[in-house]
Amino acid sequence: MSTLIKNGTLITASDTFEADILIEGELIVQIGKNLAHPNADIIDANGKLIMPGGVDPHVHLDLPMFDTVSSDNHYTGHKAAAFGGTTTAMDFVVLEMEGFAHSVDLWMKKAEKAAIDYSFHMNLTQFNNKIAAEIPSLMEMGIQTLKVFTAYNGRLRLDDGNIFKAMQIAKENGMLVMAHCENGDVIDTLTQQVLADGHTDPIWHAWTRPSWGAVDATLRVAGMAAEADASVYIVHMNAAGEVDMLKYARERGVKVMGETCPQYLFFTEDALEREDGAKWICSPPMRKEQDNARLWQGLHNGTLQTIGTDHCPFYFDGTKPIMYEGKEIAIPGKELGKYNFTKIPNGLPGIQDRMPILWTYGVQTGHITANQFVAYTSTNPAKIFGLYPRKGALVPGADADLVIWDPERTLKYGVAHSHQRTDYNLYEGLDLKGYPEKVFLRGKLIVDGEKWLGKSGDGQFLKRSEGEVL
Ligand code: URP
Ligand code: ZN
Ligand code: ZN
Repeated sequence: MSTLIKNGTLITASDTFEADILIEGELIVQIGKNLAHPNADIIDANGKLIMPGGVDPHVHLDLPMFDTVSSDNHYTGHKAAAFGGTTTAMDFVVLEMEGFAHSVDLWMKKAEKAAIDYSFHMNLTQFNNKIAAEIPSLMEMGIQTLKVFTAYNGRLRLDDGNIFKAMQIAKENGMLVMAHCENGDVIDTLTQQVLADGHTDPIWHAWTRPSWGAVDATLRVAGMAAEADASVYIVHMNAAGEVDMLKYARERGVKVMGETCPQYLFFTEDALEREDGAKWICSPPMRKEQDNARLWQGLHNGTLQTIGTDHCPFYFDGTKPIMYEGKEIAIPGKELGKYNFTKIPNGLPGIQDRMPILWTYGVQTGHITANQFVAYTSTNPAKIFGLYPRKGALVPGADADLVIWDPERTLKYGVAHSHQRTDYNLYEGLDLKGYPEKVFLRGKLIVDGEKWLGKSGDGQFLKRSEGEVL
C-alpha cells in the first residue's frame, strides 16, 4: 500500500521546508517536491505541518506501586500517546529476584497489548556479582539502558559504589546509565521527622524532597560518570540547580545528558497545597517558578536534550469508575494516601499531553522553536536511545511514523478530550492552538481526527543498539 502526502510543511530537528512524502508499506521511501505515484492514496496536507512521530523516552505503564498499579497499560497508554502525536514509548522493567531475562519476559507479556512501538529500560535496583555479570546480556535483548536511583532507600536505591560499578560496566558494553537524582537519606530523615510531628498533607511530599538533594545527586552522578568515563542521562530534571550542574559537567566534557518533563515546566509545588493537591504528587516533586524558568532556559539554549513525560498515572479518586472504551473501570489511586502523603502513589498522567501542551505553551510562546520541539520530543530521544534514524527522522528508509499537525486547530483541553485512563488532567481547561490531525505508525493511519484506527497488538518491540551522546 502506498500513501502520498502532498503539500505539507515538514519540520525536522534542524529544518523546515515544503515537500511531499511518499510512504510504501511501513517506510518513508521518498521526500521531495511534486512527487507522483499512480496508485497511492493521496492526502492533501496543504496548511499542515508534518513531523516525525514523537518518541517518549520515559513512561511507566502497568507499573505496580504501593497497593495499586499505574492506571494506563500498554494499550490504553499507547492509544493516548498516539492521540497526542507520540508513536514510540519506552518504559521501565521492574527487576525481579529471578533476574533480567525473567523480568524482561514479564514485561514483554504485559506489552503484548502494545498499540505503538515500544522498548524497555531496565531498573537496576539490586546489585551483586551475579547481576553485574549479567548486565551485558541486556544488550542482546535490545535493552541498552539501566536506570539507577539515588533515592527510595531500601526499595530502589543503589549505593554510590554500586552505581559507579554499573557505570563502569555500562561504559565497557556501550550502554547508557539513566539516573533518578534525589538525596534518599535526606528524604528519609525529613519524612520520619514530619510524620512524627503529625504532618500528612500532600505539600509535605515536596517539603521532604528538597531540591538541594536533586542538585547534589546530579553533581554526584555527573562526577561518577566523569570518573568512569561513562555516558549518563539524568531523568526528570526539575530544579534550576540541576541544570546548572548539568551545564557545569557538560562544559567539562562529561558525557552527561538531561531530560525534563512538562510538569516541571508548567507547575510549582504550590499545586500540592490545593484541595486536590494529590493529583500533582510525583517524585521528584514540582519546585518553584525560578526552577520552571531555568528549565525553559536550559531547553532554549540546549543544555537539556529531551522532554519525556514520566507518565505514571493514577486516578485521583479510584473508588469511582470512569468509562473507558464503553466499559466502567476503577483502579485504586491517590485516595490511598488521603490521610498520609507517603501513601499517595507517586506519578501523574502526561503521555498524550506532552506534545500538544508544549506546542501551544512552549513553541507558540517562544520558549523553544518548532525545530527544537521536534528535537526534544522525537529526534534526540531516538538518537540517545539507539533508534535513529529508524525513528525520529523524516528521511527515506525511516519508519513512516508521522504526525500531520493542524496548526490552526483550537480546543479547550482536559480530561474529556484525553484518552489517558484516569479521572483528571493536569492541563484542564487550557486553550490549545495546534493539534495532531492524523498519526501514522509504520505507514498505518492510527489516528484520524478524533477517530481511533489503531489496535492492541499494532505496536512492535524495538531492539535498540548503542545510542549517541548528544
Ligand atoms: O513519581 C514518579 N515519577 N513515579 C515514577 C517513578 C520514577 O521515579 O520515575
Ligand atoms: Zn525516577
Ligand atoms: Zn519515571
